[in-house]
Amino acid sequence: MNPTPPPSPAAASTVMAAPVDVSDYVRLAPSCLSTMAWEYVRGGAADEVTLGWNEDRFRAIRLRPDFLVDVSKIDTRVTLFGREMPLPLLLAPAAYQRLLHPDGELATVKGAGLAGTTMVLSTTSTVSIEDTARVATQPLWFQLYVQPDREVTRSLVQRAEAAGCQALVITIDSPVLGPRYRETRSQFTLPAGMERANLRGLKAATGAQRATGGTIYSAVQDPTVTWQDVAWLRSLTSMPVLLKGIMNPDDAARAVDAGVQGIIVSNHGGRNVDTVPAAIDALVPVAERVAGRIPVLVDGGVRRGTDILKAVALGASAVLIGRPYLCGLAVGGSEGVAHVINILRRELEMAMASTGRPTIASIGRSVIWS
Ligand code: FNR
Ligand code: LAC
Repeated sequence: MNPTPPPSPAAASTVMAAPVDVSDYVRLAPSCLSTMAWEYVRGGAADEVTLGWNEDRFRAIRLRPDFLVDVSKIDTRVTLFGREMPLPLLLAPAAYQRLLHPDGELATVKGAGLAGTTMVLSTTSTVSIEDTARVATQPLWFQLYVQPDREVTRSLVQRAEAAGCQALVITIDSPVLGPRYRETRSQFTLPAGMERANLRGLKAATGAQRATGGTIYSAVQDPTVTWQDVAWLRSLTSMPVLLKGIMNPDDAARAVDAGVQGIIVSNHGGRNVDTVPAAIDALVPVAERVAGRIPVLVDGGVRRGTDILKAVALGASAVLIGRPYLCGLAVGGSEGVAHVINILRRELEMAMASTGRPTIASIGRSVIWS
């Protein structure tokens, strides 16, 4: 028999042009983006040690399947804050999406709609809360960076609620942004014509994200926020409030005592303080301390359906993804975002079927090899 000829360059590029998993989207994204935008998305703080751990520590967890279980029906549904979601996955808040695609956050929210998923819209989005909410067909959550001007903060929360957002995610891990040298080297800045749409009309709507003049602080994140402010923030809204960026069990216990409705374990995708543990490692003691009193979500390094299974097994009610859908957005707009979600959904279904865990409730510690 004749040996199979090697694929022609055209065939090879066809293969590359049809992404089939998250890693394909990550590989394709840089060719769709400016160097500055790609460095912004992919980068982490300092030596990017935590950035690497986020993925590595998921990979290092081994699974222990059970067989001879009827897995002819797989049910990935979960209920969070009284609402059913088709799978325990949300889109993490991420700033400046018009850098990645001309439609920015509008494309993301459409992709979330196509795939039946909740998007968490960033305070520093390039499309406003109202414009995003108008095209949302699935629940939309709003992420708050407390602003140095508390009246602006109040107004952001009220606008989110008025626009129909269904939860408020307060990011607590960013009194300052970390030293991200990829951003420095690529001279990260918002291009002319792009603005922080939720801050339109304010001085902070345009220009650098990092204040200039040698200060470490940003114009759009208030470094004075403390636990004392949480009650005030809660009083601004009837939406459930989640604190995003909890990394230790003591803070988790304080969050429960402060009356918030949920926690997101997160190290901001390794972007703020380097050498904190991987998110999945921080999840374990946090979930143990919270002991089911409020939902605990986690983000950082989720790239596979098995990662979602592992996070649920270790105590998460749901996970969020950041870079995977941002790469989907860069490569394929709303379709790319929806495809990334559907890839992870299928991988999760396969992971559940092949470990003998047909429902989310059936996924517990016993699926982890110890
Ligand atoms: C973020 N993240 C983030 N978080 C937040 O609360 N508000 C924000 O505006 C942003 N912006 C942002 C931009 C970009 C480009 C990235 C990559 C991340 C953090 C984000 O919500 C989430 O915690 C991480 O992205 C999760 O890690 P993975 O999935 O990217 O590994
Ligand atoms: C970031 C900020 C905006 O991670 O949260 O880039």
